This record gives sequence, C-alpha cells and structure tokens, in this order.
Amino acid sequence: MESTQKRFAGLAKSSEVQSLSAVTAEEVPRHPTGIDELDRVLGGGLVKGAVVLIGGDPGIGKSTLLLQALAQVGVTRHVLYVSGEESAQQIALRAKRLAVDAASVRLLAEIQLERIAATLATEKPDVVVIDSIQTVYTDTLQSAPGSVAQVRECAAQLTRYAKSHGTTMIIVGHVTKEGALAGPRVLEHIVDSVLYFEGDTHSSFRLIRAIKNRFGAVNELGVFAMTDKGLRGVSNPSALFLSQHEEPVPGSCVMVTQEGTRPLLVEVQALVDDAHSPNPRRLSVGLEQNRLAMLLAVLHRHAGIGCFDQDVFINAVGGVKIAEPAADLAVLLAVVSSMRNRALTEKMVVFGEVGLAGEVRPVQRGQERLKEAAKLGFTKAIVPKANRPKTPIEGMEVIAVERLADAVAQCR
Ligand code: TYD
Ligand code: MG
Repeated sequence: MESTQKRFAGLAKSSEVQSLSAVTAEEVPRHPTGIDELDRVLGGGLVKGAVVLIGGDPGIGKSTLLLQALAQVGVTRHVLYVSGEESAQQIALRAKRLAVDAASVRLLAEIQLERIAATLATEKPDVVVIDSIQTVYTDTLQSAPGSVAQVRECAAQLTRYAKSHGTTMIIVGHVTKEGALAGPRVLEHIVDSVLYFEGDTHSSFRLIRAIKNRFGAVNELGVFAMTDKGLRGVSNPSALFLSQHEEPVPGSCVMVTQEGTRPLLVEVQALVDDAHSPNPRRLSVGLEQNRLAMLLAVLHRHAGIGCFDQDVFINAVGGVKIAEPAADLAVLLAVVSSMRNRALTEKMVVFGEVGLAGEVRPVQRGQERLKEAAKLGFTKAIVPKANRPKTPIEGMEVIAVERLADAVAQCR
C-alpha cells in the first residue's frame, strides 16, 4: 500500500509538545446508520475516520447487518462494500432478499490489499466495509491470507488509510475455531471500537456488544432477531432470554442482568448430577467457568452444601454471555434447586454478587432491575440487602439478604 519506510510511520503528524488545555477538543459528529440497535452500540452512530471491528462466529449475521446498514447510509453518503467472501452475484442476491436499496452501494469483490487501496483512492468513499479481514492479503508478506501476520499488517494499513483520509471503516473479523489466533482479538488494540456478535446460531436472536469504544460507552447491547428479511432490531428485549416452562422446573433461576442502559431477564439453568469419575465436571456456558468453581466452594463453606461427588453444569439461556458477578446468587440458587430437585418459587427473580466470605454484595442499578422484573409479571425477588427498594415496588415482594445462607434458606 505504501513504501516500506512509510509503512511504519506514526499515525499522528510529528508535532510540538503543547499544553493539553491548548488543544482544541471538538465533539465528534456522528452519522447514524439508521439501524437503531446498531447505533446504540456504536454510541450514536459512525464517526468520521474511526475504525470499527465487528467480530463473531461465521454465519451469525455480520455480512447481513453490514449490507443493511450500508444500504441505509448510502442514501446520503458515499459507501463502498469490499467483499472477499462472496462474489458480486451472491451479494446482489442477498441485497434482493433483504429488499434493501442496492443502488447506493458500491461493490468491490477483491482480496488483494494493494488493489483495494487503489480502489479506495479512486472511489474515495465516506464509509467502507472490509468483509472480512481474514480474506485480505498483501503482496509484501509471504504468509497466507488469514495468518496472524497478514491480518495484522492488512488491518494496520487499512486503519492508516482510514485515519489519514477521514474515512469510516468497518472491518469484519471471523472468530476462528482456534480462538484468539488470527481472529479479531489480535486487532482489538489497533481499532477504535470493537463490537462482538453473540447468540446461538440456532436461535434467531443476536446480540451485539461493544467491548471497546473510543467514542462511547462500552457494554451497551444491541439486540436483533434474524428474520427472512435480515436482522430486525428488538427495542424491548428484556424478556427474550426466558424459556417458557409450563410448570416451574428444578434447576432454573431467573436473574436480572443490567447490560448497558437496559435490564435483561435471563434464565440461568443448572444441572447437578452424580459424577462418574473422581474428578467431577464443572461446565459453564455463557457464564464464567472459573467463577463457578469458586462459587461452589463458597456454597459448601458458607451454606453447608457440598457437591464434590457431583457434576455441575450451568447454562445461560439463549446464548447470552453474562460477565457481571450479579449472576452469582442466581447461579447458586439454580444449583441448590437442581440438587434438591425442587423448583424455586414461581415468578421469582434473583441477583447479587457472592463474596468469598459468604456475603451477598449489592449490584448497580438494583431498582431498575426490580422494576423491569415487576413489569414483566414477576412477583418475588431475592436481592442483596443494600439493593432493597426504598419505596415498595407494586406487586413485588422483595426479600433482602445479607448472607448466602439466608438466600439458600429461602429455597424450598
Ligand atoms: P451472514 O450475514 O452471511 O453471516 P456472517 O457474515 O456473520 O458469516 O449470515 C448468514 C446467516 O443468516 C445464514 O445462515 C442465513 C441467515 N439469513 C437469514 O436468516 N435471513 C436473511 O435475510 C439473510 C440475508 C440471512
Ligand atoms: Mg459474511
């Protein structure tokens, strides 16, 4: 793309040392994509010269969402879609299926970085999508497309282009089977924002989470449903991750997690069963595995319930990933419920962090969580003492606990 000496030049022009207060800081203007749930995660919209990385499993909907977004943005701005994954015909077919305005989207099916650069120089787009970085390669390196060296170098060159030309760039990265290797993770530090798709490819719901954002809040969630006309935003997602049980079942506990500005009710499921090996299994999907081992130790030490000879499996329904410790109490009550083979109280929600000393710690925005649960028809809640609402919430009986043992005592 550029000569070897220039390849490693700094991004900023060399400049004098100056006082921070003397630098004029301007609010960056944002260009909404017109897709509300995407704008929400981006922190309001696309920013000129910013580079966004969108990662996710193959087939989760990255190309679909970006084509929908580009078609909308293209109405007012100059947009270019560079695809190394699909042929022009395939993309045209998809655009037809999505019923988007294809006239405004310029398309290039190309994987060689130097040729992409040449097109960027002539087309001068305001917004460009590179789908995906793993297919792009540069002639200056020997290694195959998709290798760590190629992915890094191509992303760095493209980022440099975006910064120097004020182009908004969206780079797609597949999460590879090998995990971190050559996947989007190796690029996180280069780009301005990192968004990840989450969700179970078998269910129709998709979440997009910002895990890094130089221009907005992180941990904001965008929620979509995959339909036959592409991805549709879900503006009121709080009840999506509850499974519908006719009767309350053992091992199920509903928690309220607060992701970004919206509370979300998620069903946590546990299965505790006799282990048939000297090393019982601890497996967790959507929740932290190491934390599960720790929580089980706390359960034994501070509530007298041991599961040394039991396998313990934990799952957050719907492919959601919950990182916040507010899930602790729900995880443990689900475990206790499965172990005793007795369902928890119907229409009950639980949240709270559990400490190593067996204490139940408060979580942020407890009131909002409770109100959302009440709105969805839940009538009982077990929460940390400090999260007890100051004014009662209509239709909701709140049990505030200080210790794990108090919460376990509430279970049947
Ligand atoms: P895609 O955007 O190609 O995924 P990625 O770019 O992340 O690899 O999504 C492909 C999946 O989405 C595919 O399994 C079919 C499904 N899909 C729909 O259900 N409806 C649609 O309108 C489209 C375009 C795709
Ligand atoms: Mg794709």
